[in-house]
Amino acid sequence: MTAYHQLLEATVNFLEGERAHGRRHVNVDLEKLSVLFRPLPKRPAKPIAETACDSMADLRAQALACTRCEHLVASRQQVVFGVGNEAADILFVGEAPGADEDAQGEPFVDAAGGLLTKMLKAMGLAREDVYIANILKCRTDTPNQRNDNRAPTAEEMTTCSPWLHRQIDFIQPKVIVALGKVAVGGLLEMENTPITKMRGQWQTYRGIPLMPTFHPAYLLHQESMQNKRKVWEDLLAVMEKIGLSISEKQRGFFLKH
Ligand code: URA
Repeated sequence: MTAYHQLLEATVNFLEGERAHGRRHVNVDLEKLSVLFRPLPKRPAKPIAETACDSMADLRAQALACTRCEHLVASRQQVVFGVGNEAADILFVGEAPGADEDAQGEPFVDAAGGLLTKMLKAMGLAREDVYIANILKCRTDTPNQRNDNRAPTAEEMTTCSPWLHRQIDFIQPKVIVALGKVAVGGLLEMENTPITKMRGQWQTYRGIPLMPTFHPAYLLHQESMQNKRKVWEDLLAVMEKIGLSISEKQRGFFLKH
């Protein structure tokens, strides 16, 4: 920080302190001016929910510069904000970027993302029709940044999720699809969410219907017709909720014949 900026910040700090004490005027005398030259205390970052921003672009710019989790800032390649239609009816929320997302700056571009894109296609939608984001905007750090990912900690989720809450405020989707237990837990502020019990059961996030379902990565690891059908039924319920037309063929996907 240059001496000029240090002086400017000290002035702002001092004036904010005066205002906080209800003082509306300052007499600038030598004693007060000397305050400007004292060493600066380190100010904690403002909570995300309190930072001003008028648009999604503004929010994105702030999120891309976020340094709240020092350990993730040190390991990340980039912040993965979210992608898609900012006025979408459906918002899909996942867990956190993995190695591919960290490299490309876009959520769900890995194998699980490929499956998500196929699920959207089965619904008659493209990625551009919906909005896709994660609970965490940075990849979780792992020793030597291995290819497998670590689950986000409760602290990381609490620190990061206000970005998502504010994205949702801008998007105002008609429905949220929470992919996996981290997404459900992060959005509904529940710990140890039993996704097997909750999937398929409508929940509410700040008045918006929220459908919990399995994460596509789970489907890739536990690939069975039964599991695919369960997720498909959750997505059919989502389509019904927002009034998308559903063909007989679509209704029959992943049913054994
Ligand atoms: N898994 C997630 O939860 N999010 C991504 O962006 C990619 C994989």
